[in-house]
Amino acid sequence: MEFPLVRMRRFRKNETLRRMLRETCLQPSDLIFPIIVTNGTKVKNPVPSMPGVYQYSVDEALKVLEHVNKLSIPAIILFGIPDYKDDIGSSAKDKNEAVQKACRAIKDKYPGLIIITDVCLCEYTNHGHCGLVDNEEVLNDATLEELCEISLSHVEAGADMVAPSNMMDGYVSEIRKGLDEKGYIDTPIMAYSAKFSSAFYGPFREAAQSSPTFGDRQSYQMDPSNKREAVREVELDIREGADIVMVKPALNYLDIIYSVKEKFSHPIAAYSVSGEYAMIKAAAEKGWIDEKEVTLQTLRGIKRAGAEMIITYSAIDVASWIEQGYY
Ligand code: PBG
Repeated sequence: MEFPLVRMRRFRKNETLRRMLRETCLQPSDLIFPIIVTNGTKVKNPVPSMPGVYQYSVDEALKVLEHVNKLSIPAIILFGIPDYKDDIGSSAKDKNEAVQKACRAIKDKYPGLIIITDVCLCEYTNHGHCGLVDNEEVLNDATLEELCEISLSHVEAGADMVAPSNMMDGYVSEIRKGLDEKGYIDTPIMAYSAKFSSAFYGPFREAAQSSPTFGDRQSYQMDPSNKREAVREVELDIREGADIVMVKPALNYLDIIYSVKEKFSHPIAAYSVSGEYAMIKAAAEKGWIDEKEVTLQTLRGIKRAGAEMIITYSAIDVASWIEQGYY
């Protein structure tokens, strides 16, 4: 059957029909809110390249999380800016540092909120790389032990889930083993499985003060050209015990999300990264695009591609737009 018997526009006649036929809608439960915490009190430092994003001290973070909680966003992912950096990133596992303090305070105030912690070294090392470094080489196996200790320090402080983002080989099985040995058998690992080496992280590195002081991250993060390799990365992490697999960035990697969805049954998280957020904000500030419509359409596209969870700096805005009837 075809035209004139078939008329696709019959479905589009009014909003009620369109609502009935809508295949993908955003819900607050799709969203994960990233938040950067630092030490001190009453700190709320704006990040210039990410309007609306701040570095918060724990007391200020709690105020923001009031909105997250009220809007039924189920989870946050924590990043930290420490008081000190050294060559092995000791502050990453320091129980008196910002992330660990935040975990305790958030668990206390919002026990129902799922706390995910980013597990990496780049914000904590003086060289800004995601692993230990020897002679300008980022060491794989030596880093794994550090990642276990960092994960444990987060979980001991109250984190519900760890999200290692370092792209070392074998990191999932090592962290799983480390958690299990201490009895944390029910703590899931959200693996940054297909994390591409991307200029889209630029604004985040300003926000988290985590740019490498020499070289770049191409010896551990993936080449943006590769899709089959991304599927392999995901498969390996699944075999090592990843509970949730992540694709990052999101917008330019919808084909990867889709392929992972087709091939595996694991839940998929997509990270709509800082550069994706900054692009929309900048164009909206110039009055060139409608921020709300473009943001919602972007996130719906990421969900349609197959992501069950979307990490987005717009989570609070999006959840309030959903509350107003947007989708
Ligand atoms: C840490 C980490 C980064 C991001 C999340 N975790 C930065 C990087 O790998 O350079 C990027 C997040 C974003 O751009 O929003 N390794």
